[in-house]
Amino acid sequence: MNTQALNAIKIPAAPLVAAVAQGARHSYWSMAAHWSSAAAVLLAAGSALGREWVEDSVIRAQLMTVHQQAGLFVLLALAWRLGVRFSKGLQDHAGPMHPLMRWMAHLAHLALYAQLLLLPLLGLAVCSASAMHVSFFGLFQLPSVIQDDPDLAATLADGHVWAAWVMLALVAAHLAAALWHHLIRRDNVLAAMLPWVQRRPPKAHAATDAGPEAGQRSLQGGD
Ligand code: HEM
Ligand code: HEM
Repeated sequence: MNTQALNAIKIPAAPLVAAVAQGARHSYWSMAAHWSSAAAVLLAAGSALGREWVEDSVIRAQLMTVHQQAGLFVLLALAWRLGVRFSKGLQDHAGPMHPLMRWMAHLAHLALYAQLLLLPLLGLAVCSASAMHVSFFGLFQLPSVIQDDPDLAATLADGHVWAAWVMLALVAAHLAAALWHHLIRRDNVLAAMLPWVQRRPPKAHAATDAGPEAGQRSLQGGD
């Protein structure tokens, strides 16, 4: 698709699309939701993969409990994030950017959100199908939604593990994109998500970087 055709695509207004908001960061709620769910995803992945190196059945069981609880937290944090995201949108700290790059960023975020939902749900389904009890943070036991079925459990477990690797690949690409913004493009995308990183003064990026939509976005609000 050429630049003109891409520029002709109208991106819907907030909350789905971001607004340029120079001089501010994402709200503390957004930052807390982002970093706590990122930490929970890494804890869930680490505790699941860590079981490979452990033979002691008690420690393996404890790691599975940590895994399940971290995974459940991801699901709760997702509900919180989507609430914030759809009520207030996401501020745009990238400034003018080529429409193709903007679409790629939206797609990557969409894929991350899809995985944040799919992965814990598949995990819960594996537990249900293998008659494994899952506690809701020690408060009560979650009801089983699927009948005990070892064949189905094995298929769901394969799906869950595949989805986990897709998630880790997406996170690696997401981290690379954040570093590209910070170190190469030198904009405020990462600084706006990290309370302790110094923000840079707003900068006009090269005209080739932006589409005509860029100016319009600067008028919209964000979180
Ligand atoms: C498991 C790990 C992670 C997950 C699941 C995740 C997920 C997400 C999602 C879904 C968004 C979109 C927010 C929205 O649309 O409201 C986002 C934004 C963002 N993430 Fe992450 N993230 C993770 C780790 C990281 C890491 C390690 C960094 C950087 C070191 C990072 C930096 C950012 C930044 C800067 C944004 C804002 C992007 C923008 O302004 O367009 N994230 N993250
Ligand atoms: C973001 C959240 C999650 C991530 C990143 C994740 C990741 C993983 C990974 C990488 C494995 C494979 C470990 C191996 O190779 O042996 C795994 C296995 C497993 N996960 Fe998750 N998981 C998540 C959420 C959940 C949840 C919420 C549950 C259930 C409440 C769950 C239940 C399981 C179970 C039962 C297995 C063992 C499957 C088997 O028998 O092979 N997971 N998970």
